[in-house]
Amino acid sequence: MIFLNSFMPAKLIDGKKLSEEILARAGKRVSKLKQKPVLAVVLVGESPASQLYVEKKRQACEKAGLRSKLYSFSESVSQEEVVAKVKELNEDNSVNGILVQLPLPKNLDRNTVLEAVSPAKDVDGFSAENLGKLALGVEDMVSCTASGIIKMIESTGTDLKGKNCCIVNHSIVVGRPLAQLLLNRNATVSVCNEFTENLAEFTKKADVLITAAGVPGLIKGEMVKVGAIVIDAGIARKNGKVFGDVEFDSVKEIASAITPVPGGAGPMTVACLIENTVKAAENQ
Ligand code: GUN
Repeated sequence: MIFLNSFMPAKLIDGKKLSEEILARAGKRVSKLKQKPVLAVVLVGESPASQLYVEKKRQACEKAGLRSKLYSFSESVSQEEVVAKVKELNEDNSVNGILVQLPLPKNLDRNTVLEAVSPAKDVDGFSAENLGKLALGVEDMVSCTASGIIKMIESTGTDLKGKNCCIVNHSIVVGRPLAQLLLNRNATVSVCNEFTENLAEFTKKADVLITAAGVPGLIKGEMVKVGAIVIDAGIARKNGKVFGDVEFDSVKEIASAITPVPGGAGPMTVACLIENTVKAAENQ
């Protein structure tokens, strides 16, 4: 008698390829504008990870035909100086989008700085107005990581309506906006974090599991429901290598679709930023 193996390894969700398609579409929209959209990036401090992200954003701007301007400050800059720069960029008609790279040094109040960004130029979707609109079900300027994750899930053809979704992250960058996007699609959402007791109880029920904890190996095969879609937006660096949260080898045998790290959430975040900047330019 021949026994057929009933499960197949998960399909890989190719974030790099999807991001290139988004950039190509954004580039076409740019070519219809009178002027190249301009993204202003505010970077405080010398974090190598933030410098790398900002460089990737600059390269993506170049690829899609946008201009980018970088405003770098030392870690000792005052709150007033950063807010004054953001307000100057709000008033500058040649600037379409403003991004303040996070995290900010501890001496700066993140919310005060983010709230200084004009909602029309808030390409990260982190202002109270844009987060509030999202909570009302209006998806205008939405966090780039959260929208990139939704696009990767939807690329599998899954209808999120009625699905159990579990997010392991509750930040304004990922977990909170992503929960709203999933609720807008009538999913059932649990938002976990580093203090969640019995995390596996939540992850095992999830048809869609999204993790961004920055803890390599946090999600193992036995914590995943058979056939689940697993999105890994975790990032940890060790000896120059990047690691996600998912133990890829065990999870790929259980899940139906899985994102790689790198090559998943990272390039999608950058592509969605470009999309938001083009949208801001079209609306201004
Ligand atoms: N730091 C990590 N991810 C992000 C992001 O999407 N936007 C900003 N501004 N900072 C980040």
